[in-house]
Amino acid sequence: MEKLMIRGGKPLHGTVTISGAKNSAIALLPAAVLAESEVILDNLPCISDVAIYAEILEELGAVVSRKDDEIRINPTGLISKPMPNGKVKKLRASYYLMGAMLGRFGEATIGMPGGCNFEPRPIDQHIKGFEALGAVVTNEQGALHIKAEQLRGAKIYLDVASVGATINIMFAASRALGVTTIENAAKEPEIVDVATLLTAMGAKIKGAGTETIRIEGVTQMKGCRHTVISDRIQAGTYMIAAAATRGNVLIDNVIPKHLEALTAKLEEMGVEVIEYDESIRIIGKSEYNAIDVKALVYPGFPTDMQSPMTSLLTCAVGTSLLSDYVYGTRFKHVPELVLMGANIRVEGRTAVIEGGPLRAAKVEAADLRAGAALVVAALTVPNEVTEITNVEYIDRGYDRLVENLSILGAEVWREDS
Ligand code: EPU
Repeated sequence: MEKLMIRGGKPLHGTVTISGAKNSAIALLPAAVLAESEVILDNLPCISDVAIYAEILEELGAVVSRKDDEIRINPTGLISKPMPNGKVKKLRASYYLMGAMLGRFGEATIGMPGGCNFEPRPIDQHIKGFEALGAVVTNEQGALHIKAEQLRGAKIYLDVASVGATINIMFAASRALGVTTIENAAKEPEIVDVATLLTAMGAKIKGAGTETIRIEGVTQMKGCRHTVISDRIQAGTYMIAAAATRGNVLIDNVIPKHLEALTAKLEEMGVEVIEYDESIRIIGKSEYNAIDVKALVYPGFPTDMQSPMTSLLTCAVGTSLLSDYVYGTRFKHVPELVLMGANIRVEGRTAVIEGGPLRAAKVEAADLRAGAALVVAALTVPNEVTEITNVEYIDRGYDRLVENLSILGAEVWREDS
């Protein structure tokens, strides 16, 4: 077990290059299950969730090889093997094996997913989708058994625009007989990335990125090469860290359009944001306005950036309100920020943040983005060293964090805890 040590107070300066997106990668990897020849993914992030997913695919019989940011998955030897326990429990995104295995083999037995449990995260919409496609879903001692004699296309309305359910239904529907439409589909860029891969594999998908997705089932899918889109949440975290430390940072290899909600909010605070084709420069200022932020589904402000944004808002003058309309209780970072001297109270789904300086403390990352919030907070504290434990949460989603922050001039290192 390691902890992250940060002596803050230095403005971040320089260029950081953003890796591929975690939330795309961990859907693109199981998508390979549907193919009948080798799938190659590049621009893959170097994060623990990707490493665990690669091991799960190997356990299922795929041949997996990795070099730098590229992975090759040959799924020809894959077998329909129940996975009630083990590594699937370590990941939230292991639920994608349900749709992918169902599409390929007509059945799947997968343990309930683990991952960041910042609040109960139901998968009822995934199950509703599988059932609409003709599958029978039973719960067998904590694992879901999903079986269909023949998947058939259906019209599926999602009660919530769920990223996971949209992708899982796309997987199963790609191999169903006939046409499936998903209404109230999630529109996140990661959905478009997955649809792009599936299309290159031979699927027939229209409308990804809109609220209606149409999938015409096919009988065979082949391998291909695909480049993972860049990670808008990592990019956003560095944008926030640059602003919080009053630095000047070029965030490279990003899609600025995916960051519009954050860009707008940073500008409202008084941060200077310059957009280029594939990069964004953040120029911090000495004083920031307090603002209100509402986390919503895409293209709204991302819930995954809500926690680091909380830390930035402690740098503003006055009272900011930050509400999360996706996960109403995703505030495990708040008590830790309070330990660092922040004046924040949570009222329902809203954090009320009074601006003011922070101090160093020993704090614990309760989940991935809560950890990112603590990193941003620690970077603002001059001279003293903040200790962040549970760093393995942060390693799930931030590619080479210590290296990147060091390049930007931060004093940050790991120690055994
Ligand atoms: N929901 C349901 N029923 C379902 C599915 C979702 O009620 O069957 C609700 C959730 O409780 C939540 C909302 O719908 O209130 C949205 O959940 P969604 O399904 O979109 O989330 P997810 O697919 O489980 C992904 C990311 C999360 C990110 C959310 C929202 C992965 C593996 N995870 O989760 O990423 O917060 O979308 O954008 O892709 C993170 O990266 O730190 C992270 C938690």
